[in-house]
Amino acid sequence: MIAFENVDFCYEDGTQVLFDVNLRVPDGTTLALLGASGSGKTTLLHVLLGLLKPTGGRVLVDGQDIVPMREKALSDVRERMGVVFQDGALFDSLTVGENVSFYMRERMRLDEDEMERRTLEQLKYVGLSHTMDLMPDELSGGMRRRVAVARAMAAFRPTIMLYDEPTSGLDPITADSICDLIRQVGTEQKLTSIIVTHRLRDAFKVADRLVLFRAGRIYFEGTCDLLRAATDPYIKRFMA
Ligand SMILES: Nc1ncnc2c1ncn2[C@@H]1O[C@H](COP(=O)(O)OP(=O)(O)O)[C@@H](O)[C@H]1O
Ligand SMILES: [Mg+2]
Repeated sequence: MIAFENVDFCYEDGTQVLFDVNLRVPDGTTLALLGASGSGKTTLLHVLLGLLKPTGGRVLVDGQDIVPMREKALSDVRERMGVVFQDGALFDSLTVGENVSFYMRERMRLDEDEMERRTLEQLKYVGLSHTMDLMPDELSGGMRRRVAVARAMAAFRPTIMLYDEPTSGLDPITADSICDLIRQVGTEQKLTSIIVTHRLRDAFKVADRLVLFRAGRIYFEGTCDLLRAATDPYIKRFMA
């Protein structure tokens, strides 16, 4: 279970970006976080990762408040989280295989054979076992996102997956296939997932519940059907 309780956040320049955010993501469910650009979605993910400290409130991961935690305890919590950052950023100077094994190599004590076995297993899972020795710039946009998903899953077998705009810049068909992958990963591995996206189509495809952010506040929370049926002018404008 992930829970945000009365979370406020200000950047150092004094700009308040999150206002009294209250949000629960039950285990095994997928939440889509929607909102216009600049509404605070990425900031919320960074707060959940412990990369930014909220100025108020609590952030619970499996019952533990991560806000007062120091780096060592935080890094243990982070090991439960797989992250696909905005644009599925890969390390361009490393091969696909090296990208996928990057966190395993950094953080876990595995021998080379075990690492290679896991890397291949994850690449196979995302349908890219043949790309192990290619460089990221030899892949299409959709393939890069798949590799980013494989890398996020490879290291610690996370229980939580966080995706920041995983389909940005992709054509609609490729975006759909990434959404299918996200859905598949979530259900097969029984993961708790948060997907930040400004594409409604993605949100409807992957999410059990939706949250719409507006200027750092939760403006709507509910099911896909409820959002579709909303008559609120701001929501209708957002959906248009
Ligand atoms: N490092 C920073 N310092 C000050 N303001 C920031 C910083 N990063 C983001 N912001 C501001 O915080 C707001 C929310 O940003 P962000 O969380 O990236 O939104 P989103 O992901 O929804 O597009 C924006 O107004 C942005 O300009
Ligand atoms: Mg963002």
